[in-house]
Amino acid sequence: MPGDLVLENGKIAKIVKRKSGGPEKPESYPEAEIEDATDMLVFPGFIDGHTHLDLPVSGTVTADDFSSGTRAAVCGGTTCVVDFATQDFGQTMVEAYEIWRRKADHRSSANYAFHMALSEWNDKIKAEFPLIREKGICSFKVYLAYAMRFQDDELYEALKAADRVGGIVGVHCENGLLVQKLQKEELAMGHTGTEAHPLSRPAELEAEAIDRLTWAAYLAGTPCHVVHLSSRAGLASVRRARARGQKVYAETCPQYLYLDESNYKRPDFEGAKYVMSPPLRKPEDLEAIHAAVVNGEIDTIATDHCSFNFATQKQAGREDFTKIPNGAPGIEHRPALIMTCFEKELAPYRLMQLLSENPAKLFGMYPKKGTLQEGSDADVTVWNPKKHWIISAANQHQNVDYTPYEGFEVHGQAHLVYVNGYLAAKDGEPTGEVRGEYVAR
Ligand code: URP
Ligand code: ZN
Repeated sequence: MPGDLVLENGKIAKIVKRKSGGPEKPESYPEAEIEDATDMLVFPGFIDGHTHLDLPVSGTVTADDFSSGTRAAVCGGTTCVVDFATQDFGQTMVEAYEIWRRKADHRSSANYAFHMALSEWNDKIKAEFPLIREKGICSFKVYLAYAMRFQDDELYEALKAADRVGGIVGVHCENGLLVQKLQKEELAMGHTGTEAHPLSRPAELEAEAIDRLTWAAYLAGTPCHVVHLSSRAGLASVRRARARGQKVYAETCPQYLYLDESNYKRPDFEGAKYVMSPPLRKPEDLEAIHAAVVNGEIDTIATDHCSFNFATQKQAGREDFTKIPNGAPGIEHRPALIMTCFEKELAPYRLMQLLSENPAKLFGMYPKKGTLQEGSDADVTVWNPKKHWIISAANQHQNVDYTPYEGFEVHGQAHLVYVNGYLAAKDGEPTGEVRGEYVAR
């Protein structure tokens, strides 16, 4: 539908619909600056619901902080990120929230909200839910893998505690104990290279953890959110729970649609660039996740952006794949990758739901964000569907020395990206506006 969008004081002040024609100055806005969006698609700003910026992990810190990460995000068309503030062992949630505010405030080009990732479960944390809710946090994350993994009873209690404050828990679904066991077995066989990474984290361990999560949520009587769904077996678990009538939200990421496990066989330790958890999967898994997006079984597509430099940080695991910091970059390239991946199968409206409306609704930001409505925030991405370009570390703004999508041709680029009404990026380059604000939800 053609029309004019008036941005004023950080909000969408007016939407003027019309049948055809180029841009016009709406009558009551004689001073308005005009941008011509003829032949473009105008979207509510894209929301990346899963990022790790300035995260200390594995004895290092992610390569992107809020400054570089959100600058890269706006270049790609993303106007809001939901990052994981992480409650470290011994900390309160409010302390973690304050630390993350200090990391993000005054240096973010995109708007930002936080999920609260939990490292432990105790009475103090349990009692803190109403307080953290007052800080604008209504989504939580629990890991079933890694040292911070939750026991089943803790997971059950966390689901209930979040639900009581009107929130939801997103869960990293892998069986951490069995991952550890399989890692030890691989190392004992002398398999120290990156090929062993997917062998130690098979899809069955994702499916088992999703079954466990969904049964816990069934018993708790709460919805739940499966983050970074990667496999056909995991999808079957989600389907089983939904067939029981449960509300289960599912997120996937571009890497589980584009990249398969053959990348772990790359020579010269290049497989380390793809070491993330869950790992890249088999081609049949990619097909299953792709079909699930098309069928409407996937609610949101985020990035799990968690960047580490290959030349330095990833080298920590040269002799032992279990020591490679887990994660890969993607915050800049998600919109172009997803538009390209589904250009023949999904209408722009459906793509908008996956990239903007659905995360806004799931994470309590709708209709402030995730829609073009009068009164909504002036976060707008004007998309040029005709631009074809090549992703490369040489042209990216992510502060990391590689991209897993090196040499990929993508169709479409963010032409104009407005954050709170300010032009933050144009044709893939930042304008220098650093206007991102904390989004209390
Ligand atoms: O490998 C990944 N995804 N690292 C980030 C932390 C997580 O598991 O979400
Ligand atoms: Zn993550």
